[in-house]
Formats: sequence, structure tokens, C-alpha cells
Amino acid sequence: TYNGNPYDDLGGAEPLKKLVDVFYTLVAAHPELAPIFPDDLTETKEKQFKFLSQFLGGPDLYAREYGHPMLRARHMPFPITPKSAEAWLGCMDQALAQVGVTGPIREFLMNRLMQTAYHMVNRPPQD
Ligand code: HEM
Repeated sequence: TYNGNPYDDLGGAEPLKKLVDVFYTLVAAHPELAPIFPDDLTETKEKQFKFLSQFLGGPDLYAREYGHPMLRARHMPFPITPKSAEAWLGCMDQALAQVGVTGPIREFLMNRLMQTAYHMVNRPPQD
């Protein structure tokens, strides 16, 4: 099993910023996701970068600025179905591929993000 420091293994702040950037470019183009996100993703990217920094074992940038993430509560205003979680994870998987993250770190990341993503689901399945 993977027991490294994911933040370090990704290469630190710059590669993480790049990942976040690519991720939100995909989110903005995704039919399931784009409608629930703001048009201007500048602040969203900044917050996500700060959150992922600490989530992955780097500096606790998000907590220093915003306190406890309370992610589920912060997502409550946005309708998130199991389909949204899958779409989010799909964009992340694609973003990891685009920035060239491979190997055990990639699997570890997707597994952790999968848990968090399904934890954010706050509306029943649609269709
Ligand atoms: C904020 C959607 C999963 C971390 C947001 C926002 C939306 C959103 C619409 C508000 C954007 C804004 O107003 O700037 C979703 C959807 C998800 C999901 C549809 C699918 C399951 C996740 C996951 C994480 C995450 C898995 C963490 C790994 C964050 C953070 C913020 C955020 C840190 C900023 C919170 C703040 O306002 O301080 N998300 N999200 N989200 N999301 Fe998600």
C-alpha cells in the first residue's frame, strides 16, 4: 500500500496548482457540472488548491484562511447527486492523466477523492 506524502510525491505547490487548473477547465466544460459552478472559477481554484494542499499532506493553507473545511456543509447549497460525484471524479481522473500523474500515487489519490466526493452527495439520484 501507498504510505508516502502525496503532496511531496506530486511535486509540491506548482504541480498541484497545474492539476487544479486543468481540473476546473474540464469542470467548466462538463454538462453535469458547469451549471452548478460559478462562471468565474478564479476563487474556486484558489480555495481548492489551498484545500488540496492540506488534504494531501502539504501546508494547511485552507485552514489558516478559512478554518475547518466543513466540506459537506459548504456543499449543501449545491445540488450534488451520485451522478455529479461521478462527473467530478471523471474530471479529476482526466486531469491527473493530462498532467501525467501515474502509479501508486494516482490510485491513492483517486481512492481518497472518491470517498470525499461520495460524502458530498446531498440529493437523491435523478432521471
Ligand atoms: C466548492 C461542487 C466535490 C472541495 C464547491 C462549489 C461547488 C462544488 C459548486 C462552490 C464553488 C464556489 O462557489 O466557488 C462540487 C461537486 C462535487 C464536489 C459537484 C462532486 C462530488 C468536492 C470534493 C472536494 C471538494 C471531492 C475535495 C476533495 C471543495 C472546496 C470548495 C468547494 C475546498 C471551496 C469551499 C469554500 O467555499 O471554501 N464544490 N464539489 N469538492 N469544493 Fe466541491
